[in-house]
Amino acid sequence: MLLNGRRSDEAVAPSWAHLRLPPFPRVALRVLQLANNENVQLHDLSELISSDPAFSSEVLTIANSLLYAPRFPASSILQAIAVLGANNLQGLCLTVGVRAYMGKALNQPAMRALWRHNLACALIADQLASVGFLDRDVAYTSGVMHDIGRLALAVIRPKEYSLLLGAYSGSPVGILKAERDLFGWDHCEAGRQLITDWKMPVEFEPIVSEHHAKRLKDVHWSMADLINVSCRMADTAGCPAFPGCEITPYPDLLDELPARERRLFHSNVESLTDDIARKIDSVESV
Ligand SMILES: [Fe+2]
Ligand SMILES: [Fe+2]
Repeated sequence: MLLNGRRSDEAVAPSWAHLRLPPFPRVALRVLQLANNENVQLHDLSELISSDPAFSSEVLTIANSLLYAPRFPASSILQAIAVLGANNLQGLCLTVGVRAYMGKALNQPAMRALWRHNLACALIADQLASVGFLDRDVAYTSGVMHDIGRLALAVIRPKEYSLLLGAYSGSPVGILKAERDLFGWDHCEAGRQLITDWKMPVEFEPIVSEHHAKRLKDVHWSMADLINVSCRMADTAGCPAFPGCEITPYPDLLDELPARERRLFHSNVESLTDDIARKIDSVESV
């Protein structure tokens, strides 16, 4: 039945502007914006991060964890930046920012699984980039960012979204329709909106909004392709975005990689799964 041109069973999306989403941690956003600026001074970045003591202590803890495995532990933010580099810092601050944004929600199993999925995608993206020709730092940051729209859905209606994630069984693309039925948007559309609202760098827009788009094999391998595959690899390597997620067999995923990446990346899923779990556990234990 049509009501004013709209089918009666279509979800009515509340206007995005009327939602009151809590702001993303300010320091993490500023670092994202500043680190893209070629002329930024390390000293300025250090001052910015140090202006928030809770944030900076978490940055330091994660910088010294197995995730970055520095040869010598950094004892100050300035030292950490000098060791990791300004671009690496973007990914690090975003990791801390997402974790802070999720806050207590991380105690819920569905949200914890989401967090692990995002981090796994970032770690896989970083490794895939390092054996190929794409920028590692951008790959890592894009991985942490790719499912940021899910955070918005989780904040808007935490109980319903947790229930959906816990109960849905099907493909990562299939759940998009279930999200639209529940919220009026899926997490890709919500992510695109967040990039605008939070004034995040625009190059992340295709990453968050198109990472579930069907990719054509044998086309130019771009950052969006790398994240598209990394997201499904995270599902396959023990970190699915939701428990009933239909996974792509690992050999099929390897098949999607360009020849060089396929040759140099983990040849079996067990070694990838172990590597990712070890690194994520090291962050979760801090
Ligand atoms: Fe996604
Ligand atoms: Fe994902």
